[in-house]
Amino acid sequence: MKTPVPDYLLEIRDLCSTGADGHLADYIPELAAVDPDRFAVAACTMDGVVYTAGDADAEFTIQSMSKPFAYALALRDRGIEAVLEKVAVEPSGDAFNQISLERISGRPRNPMINIGAITTHTLVGPVGATEDERDEALAAGLSSFAGRRLEVDAAVMNSELRTAFRNRAMANLVRASGIIEDDPDEAVRGYTRQCAYRVTVRDLAVMAVTLATGGINPVTRERVVSAPVARQVLAVMATCGMYDAAGDWMSTVGIPAKSGVSGGIFGALPGQVGLGVFSPRLDDHGHSVEGVRTFERLSRDLELHLM
Ligand code: DON
Repeated sequence: MKTPVPDYLLEIRDLCSTGADGHLADYIPELAAVDPDRFAVAACTMDGVVYTAGDADAEFTIQSMSKPFAYALALRDRGIEAVLEKVAVEPSGDAFNQISLERISGRPRNPMINIGAITTHTLVGPVGATEDERDEALAAGLSSFAGRRLEVDAAVMNSELRTAFRNRAMANLVRASGIIEDDPDEAVRGYTRQCAYRVTVRDLAVMAVTLATGGINPVTRERVVSAPVARQVLAVMATCGMYDAAGDWMSTVGIPAKSGVSGGIFGALPGQVGLGVFSPRLDDHGHSVEGVRTFERLSRDLELHLM
């Protein structure tokens, strides 16, 4: 269904998609093959109206933007206390692919960095779920957030699996310390699959607003997670979602958010709006250059800063 595109979003696209700064993620070979000039932005209101501008139907893989949703599903399936026993909620101050573990407990510092997200992945679904059951729980859960059935990009998944040496090393570390109980290869396979779901900015905006409403998808009207789960996820996005740029992001943009190396960023402003941006060139933190610029602009123009 077509939705109106306000002139404002078109203006944002023109203002924020001008430069060629940044680089494509190349440690996942398939991601280096995308058109670097794509740009799209979407906003979803609390009553489920979606506004878009740019390549709004372009699909890209969700990558690290899957992490808050997988965290939400783990919290739903295992409860907040059980998940906290395995994964902490402190900003690491490190890049997303660092081995950031708490010294005494050995827990990954938070669920937004890779080592915490691999651990969190193993907590989706009921205790004792098989790999297939967990994959299906994730597919169903992510799809409920988006309000449509999401599909995996097998080429991106396989491309990443061929080069996932760091993630395998980290899965083995948390297995060795007993933080995860699953086979580490299975955990990395499932986590990599989780990162390979295809989304559009429209999906991101709807998924984001489903957190902003406190867990109800306003398009399908389905309650996807409880309000306390949505609050926990938003809190962790606010403090850890932008990795070692989380402090800068909170002070300049002020919206709980998460980025992915495919070039997407989504933001969820509690009680107000869900936002999604896509532009593949990345800065040194692994965030979309134009995506960051767009969020800075939206936050300023629309006075979206939380503080
Ligand atoms: O595990 C990885 O390295 C990728 N599948 C996801 C990393 C990512 O998106 C980092 N975020 N900006």
